[in-house]
Amino acid sequence: MMNVSEIRKVQRAEGPATILAIGTANPPDVIEQSTYPDWYFRITNAEHMTDLKKKFQRICDKTMIQKRHFYLTEERLKENPNICDYRGSSLDAREDMMLAEVPRLGKEASLKAIKEWGQPKSKITHMIFCTTSGVSLPGVDYQCAVLLGLDPCVKRYMMYHQGCFAGGTMLRLAKDLAENNKGARVLIVCSEVTAVTFRGPNENDMDSLVGQSLFADGAAAIIVGSDPDLKIEKPLYELVWTSQKMVPNTHDAIGGKLREVGLTFYLNKSVPDIISQNINDALNVAFDPLGISDYNSLFWIAHPGGPAIIDQVEQKLNLKPEKMKATREVLRDNGNMSSACVFFILDLMRKKSLEGGLQTTGEGLEWGVLFGFGPGLTIETVVLHSVAI
Ligand code: CAA
Repeated sequence: MMNVSEIRKVQRAEGPATILAIGTANPPDVIEQSTYPDWYFRITNAEHMTDLKKKFQRICDKTMIQKRHFYLTEERLKENPNICDYRGSSLDAREDMMLAEVPRLGKEASLKAIKEWGQPKSKITHMIFCTTSGVSLPGVDYQCAVLLGLDPCVKRYMMYHQGCFAGGTMLRLAKDLAENNKGARVLIVCSEVTAVTFRGPNENDMDSLVGQSLFADGAAAIIVGSDPDLKIEKPLYELVWTSQKMVPNTHDAIGGKLREVGLTFYLNKSVPDIISQNINDALNVAFDPLGISDYNSLFWIAHPGGPAIIDQVEQKLNLKPEKMKATREVLRDNGNMSSACVFFILDLMRKKSLEGGLQTTGEGLEWGVLFGFGPGLTIETVVLHSVAI
């Protein structure tokens, strides 16, 4: 008969957690950023606020975003005019929309990941679902699991209201689950829908206006597992090390409150500064043990909260412009999709690496870093190891 320590040993995986597949999805409706200020001020009946509209145009022009996908169409907004109002009581209508769309979009991304993985969905042992919207009992993780037809014994974890750093959190949890449970195959789903934050403009709320210029809808799904069966599974990246840090005395930098008007938020102008001032420390803690101090030798995946964040991180570390290429492309083509962004960047990077004939999934490089930034201010760091193509 085995003793407890022997049982514990056989329960655990041998190798590091690996990413085995990635899928992404957006709602079909797209708005070009160049026409967004006209659309936004018209749909919110705010065209008389001409100065504010000009300011919004200036902000939108600086976002470096070309287009964003939205679940909230003109038709849906006309049916729910309170959502267009700055102070309109609208939480019920918003929640009803999100309870349908958040799991649906998550399902779409998951099906793509499961297809790439190529294994029966009954082999998914754990599911971690993350969203900033759509609170219910049972949760949107349950709805998505049912839509996907996952095994009823799948072990679910629901992460509500984390914000934009949560892509890193999901990888951290998935790594712990995969490495501690032999044979585990963890489905991560991040599904973000801005129907929770969309509201009309107000000249006393510039934070909301900046958010309206950046946030967008998207979902991403990833399958994580240790000890891949290389006959039938193909690792894309290895998850080597993870951490989370609450940067002291920065709780007033980014945050939000769920109110009758939806999710209200504050976004301090100092956010890019705070992140860039703390980035070196985060990198040192992660890479000193590996003997890596040249951060240009890494491949980079950073949550694209806004272009000022990427610019200031680049400047602080003297990063070469190509380091943030994939990060900037995802911001340009999708906007800030909160927790889902970093997975869109990983997906783009491995595809471009393959297309470009590079030797590894990490732009030909061996080691990489993934950063999540969000309320707290919280920094998630994930050390990645690429895989040979
Ligand atoms: N709050 C209020 N106003 C702001 C602002 C902010 N955070 N940042 C810029 N502005 C205003 C400026 O005062 C300026 O107004 P005027 O034209 O009237 O002078 C206008 O926006 C344009 O600013 P700049 O000309 O200085 O342009 P910029 O190059 O700084 O670009 C920006 C503007 C795109 C918003 C850029 O500043 C940026 O990327 N900022 C970072 C945004 C940010 O914090 N993102 C994090 C989002 S939160 C997140 O991702 C996590 C989550 O959990 C939700």
